[in-house]
Amino acid sequence: MTHQNGAPATRTAIYPGSFDPLTMGHLDVIERAAAIFPRVLVAVVVNPQKREPLFPLEERKRMISESVDALGNVEVVEFRGLLADFVKRVGVGVIVKGLRVVSDFESEMSAALMNRSLSGVDTIFLPSDPRYSFISSSLVKEVFFLGGDITQYVPDAVLRTMRAKRATLRPTQTEENRPS
Ligand code: PNS
Repeated sequence: MTHQNGAPATRTAIYPGSFDPLTMGHLDVIERAAAIFPRVLVAVVVNPQKREPLFPLEERKRMISESVDALGNVEVVEFRGLLADFVKRVGVGVIVKGLRVVSDFESEMSAALMNRSLSGVDTIFLPSDPRYSFISSSLVKEVFFLGGDITQYVPDAVLRTMRAKRATLRPTQTEENRPS
């Protein structure tokens, strides 16, 4: 089985996540995966398990698309339901996950085994760049909305979108209203 750009399905990698929003840590994993595999699908889950996302699906996808614009072999897709079903349906060869800290490994190991059991597709782990090992989407949101500088933790497209989002929120939810 081959895809539009001629890459065999087995050489297509999928990098799934909530991306609420994309961070520099995510982008680093995407760039490194794109250097290893001929085709990388960044797969945005429609309904994240954890909680209601801050950014709607289309906004999460747009921020990723703008950030990976220079990478010719990366596509942004969405999926709902089981990752294993999506993987079988589109025919990818490998799932890519980033690992920041040891506690990530514990949960990702069981997810990898479950996904392989359900789909037959293996997971490859890329260790996080130490510069980004403490960054998460939730921490970035918390720091930003409490007035911290997140410039170095998110791509430009994300920073612009977050500033626009903050402008739409009530002043009580932003740093302007913090007690001094
Ligand atoms: O960025 P996240 O929130 O850590 O990504 C988690 C994600 C989307 C990769 C995971 O929740 C997932 O695969 N969700 C789809 C539902 C599913 O397949 N669940 C079983 C996983 S073993």
